[in-house]
Amino acid sequence: MGKATDNLRREHESILSVLEIAEDVISNTNHSNEPKLKFGNEFIYYLSVFTDRCHHGKEEGHLFPTMILKGFPNHDGPIGVMLQEHINGRNMVKEMRTTVDQKDLIRLIQHIGEYSVFIRNHIAKENNLIFPMADKYLSAEEQEEMAENFEIFEEEVVGHGVHQQLHDMIDTWLIEYEINK
Ligand SMILES: [Fe+2]
Ligand SMILES: [Fe+2]
Repeated sequence: MGKATDNLRREHESILSVLEIAEDVISNTNHSNEPKLKFGNEFIYYLSVFTDRCHHGKEEGHLFPTMILKGFPNHDGPIGVMLQEHINGRNMVKEMRTTVDQKDLIRLIQHIGEYSVFIRNHIAKENNLIFPMADKYLSAEEQEEMAENFEIFEEEVVGHGVHQQLHDMIDTWLIEYEINK
């Protein structure tokens, strides 16, 4: 496993554990509508900042272009599929945001369910197909350099303060929504 793909795999783990929290919160009948809508709002914030801006940003800005330079097809191959799925994911989060704005909990729950299926599939494709290809064709030095660029990128687009804020938000969810993790 390379250093850069390893970083992305760990981020996949974080995304999956937040999804589990989301599924716990929305299916828990002890919580009333308002706390669930509040959670929905914060979950959308996590998806926009961490999943999309930070994680998809690293893939789109660093990993995929490097793989394309190595000769992987751009639009008509698996990377093209991943890029299209990122766009689909963004649209799904946009729709999710509308349901929160309209305080439509039923549709929010539906959207979270659909997004979970979608992102789990996407992550599985990357873990099982894209990252192993990157591990095969990128040298250890290239992965090392990419991992350094990830750190710079992360600091630029998310920043240490926001990262800490996201961690604190997740910790608060565990208490507020009584989740045992
Ligand atoms: Fe992706
Ligand atoms: Fe990913």
